[in-house]
Amino acid sequence: MDAGVLDWAATDDPIDVLLGEHRTILQVLDEVERESRRLEATGVLRESFWQDLLRFCDEFDAGLHHQKEEHLLFPALEASGLSPTTGPTAVLRDEHLRSRFWRQRIEQALQQRDRARLLAAAGSFLDLNRAHVLKENQILFPLARRLLQPGDLARLHREFRLLAADQRLGCWMRHPYEQAAGA
Ligand SMILES: [Fe+2]
Repeated sequence: MDAGVLDWAATDDPIDVLLGEHRTILQVLDEVERESRRLEATGVLRESFWQDLLRFCDEFDAGLHHQKEEHLLFPALEASGLSPTTGPTAVLRDEHLRSRFWRQRIEQALQQRDRARLLAAAGSFLDLNRAHVLKENQILFPLARRLLQPGDLARLHREFRLLAADQRLGCWMRHPYEQAAGA
């Protein structure tokens, strides 16, 4: 799993950036489904796969993608008229929390090496996130294109780039020796 797959540099449209990140997330979810089937069929728990998934959740999903949405896109939409408590951004924020809940459940099951619980948590994580990505792609992003002005979109794109740079810096600070060794 490559948590560094970002195609923001190829576009100046922040919604395209998020759509690209969703494609990465959906690819990871497909891998989770394949690994779950393998675990169910063979009983072999490949710890490294699940540790990679947890790292992806922390560094890419929660650490970058959710931050772009929750701290930048959603507030911009709320400033353009969506209700922060009853509108679609409120529902989507709640789904981000639920996704983090299932990520915790996956980690707990992994620590206990409980295959049945791991499969159940992974299944809930998959179902939630696939539906969530679909909802954002089909409802929120078209709404954002209608509500946001060209100046809002340009500002969002600049803020996304700054956030991505901060995230890469934070990643390097956490893993300086790994980064240096891989350079
Ligand atoms: Fe998203």
